[in-house]
Amino acid sequence: MLGRLNHVALAVPDLAAAAAVYRDTLGARVTAPQALPEHGVTVVFVDVGNTRIELLEPLGEGSPIAGFLERNPSGGMHHVCYEVDDIVAARDRLKAGGARVLGDGNPKTGAHGKPVLFLHPKDFFGTLVELEQA
Ligand code: CO
Repeated sequence: MLGRLNHVALAVPDLAAAAAVYRDTLGARVTAPQALPEHGVTVVFVDVGNTRIELLEPLGEGSPIAGFLERNPSGGMHHVCYEVDDIVAARDRLKAGGARVLGDGNPKTGAHGKPVLFLHPKDFFGTLVELEQA
């Protein structure tokens, strides 16, 4: 069921500053910022060859990463994203196994225009897991 690692996401307090560090200090290619109001974040992606790093900054009221940044004011690793071929089949299999799907349980459109879901970190060893239909 589980495919390749699509990205590792870091929540950051200042997206422009974090993007500049990846671009200028680390010498990586960084995409332009993309606002995702439905997800309450603004994102950029860093291309690191074999995968990507997603940098996330809160957007709007009640951003789902606001609490995380309160607990981790300098930022931190927020989630890992794995690809799946069929996100609804993956969801149904995981739910049947007792895993909790966040939100209303239905896929939303993610940063790459593809359906995504998030799985409860307590069911996956303290790590928030995003699934993206490849
Ligand atoms: Co993500």
